Amino acid sequence: MRGSSHRQRILVTGGAGFLGSHLCERLLGEGHDVVCVDNFFTGSKENILSLLSHPRFELIRHDITMPLFIEVDRIYNLACPASPVHYQYNAIKTIKTNVMGTIHALGIAKRVRARILQASTSEVYGDPEVHPQRETYWGRVNPIGIRSCYDEGKRAAECLMMDYHRQNGVDVKIARIFNTYGPRMALDDGRVVSNFIVQALRGEDITVYGEGTQTRSFCYVDDMIEGLTAMMESERGFIGPVNLGNPEEFTIRRLAETVIKMTGSSSKIVYRPLPPDDPVQRRPDITLAKERLDWSPRVPLEKGLAKTIDYFSKLLPEVGTGPRPAGPGSGRRKPGVSKRGVRGKHDR
Ligand SMILES: NC(=O)c1ccc[n+]([C@@H]2O[C@H](COP(=O)([O-])OP(=O)(O)OC[C@H]3O[C@@H](n4cnc5c(N)ncnc54)[C@H](O)[C@@H]3O)[C@@H](O)[C@H]2O)c1
Repeated sequence: MRGSSHRQRILVTGGAGFLGSHLCERLLGEGHDVVCVDNFFTGSKENILSLLSHPRFELIRHDITMPLFIEVDRIYNLACPASPVHYQYNAIKTIKTNVMGTIHALGIAKRVRARILQASTSEVYGDPEVHPQRETYWGRVNPIGIRSCYDEGKRAAECLMMDYHRQNGVDVKIARIFNTYGPRMALDDGRVVSNFIVQALRGEDITVYGEGTQTRSFCYVDDMIEGLTAMMESERGFIGPVNLGNPEEFTIRRLAETVIKMTGSSSKIVYRPLPPDDPVQRRPDITLAKERLDWSPRVPLEKGLAKTIDYFSKLLPEVGTGPRPAGPGSGRRKPGVSKRGVRGKHDR
């Protein structure tokens, strides 16, 4: 296990979310003090339940679009809804979280000279003309589309990181995260892994768009957390951006078949027309992460899926026949989240 050997005080914005909760757990395990800041839009207290009684864990319910004053050594800026169904629910709020939230996080970093890592995304590449994407590729993003609040928001956040670094000498790091899966993914956010598992566990038809020959790559959460912490503790001056993800490709059909086999489900695969903007392929080029961080994913898909299936099979009886409301804090069901799950296509 890597990471910093001396005890640090670490702020994790979005710490009650899927990735954030695993990150908090990991950092506590390394002996650090962890401050989790979250507004519970898509995160939940259940995600961090086991951490609440930990003596080195502190939870602050706070919206990062509002300023925050705190003394820390490290900041992981993860706060932002991550799937289309959630980030399109309130697009203005999404871009505010990306821009104002990042400014506030950078403000803390500047004031207390903390190092800050931005959780960016493969979506900064938009609908790319080159495969796989290297960090040097500038992307092809629609600035006025319904995804722009997220894609452009994340691009603006990267821009802010660089400007605070150039102008104020802030010690910044940028990680571009590709598709990640694992326990504590939201049940209802339309991501292909959670969708398939939930459909299989309920014995419902598994919906595959097109012929299912399009490929995706999936990184298990433990590998991603390892990558994020390695990036945070990388040598000063290595800013990135660096791609983090699993380059191994799987067809959507193979994923569906594997999930059916592993859950022992009676579900059938049904095929629906492919939406026009569904990419044929999305795969990270992780050469830079290998070279500079000595990092590459280790968890094979079947092993990661087994842990994820185990998580969802324990969760499902508690939520009865319908998925958990999208925002546990709000208790409301968000648009696009039907009673039986999420309509829509595979995540990109
Ligand atoms: N999971 C992935 O595959 C993936 C891929 C690319 C990038 N990312 C990025 O990683 C980060 C974490 O993603 P995740 O999958 O854990 O998503 P998530 O939705 O589970 O976590 C996001 C967390 O941020 C919180 N949050 C949202 N807006 C906030 C605000 N204004 N103030 C305070 N807290 C707020 C949410 O309540 C939630 O706990 C995000 O920034 C996301 O864009 C994730």
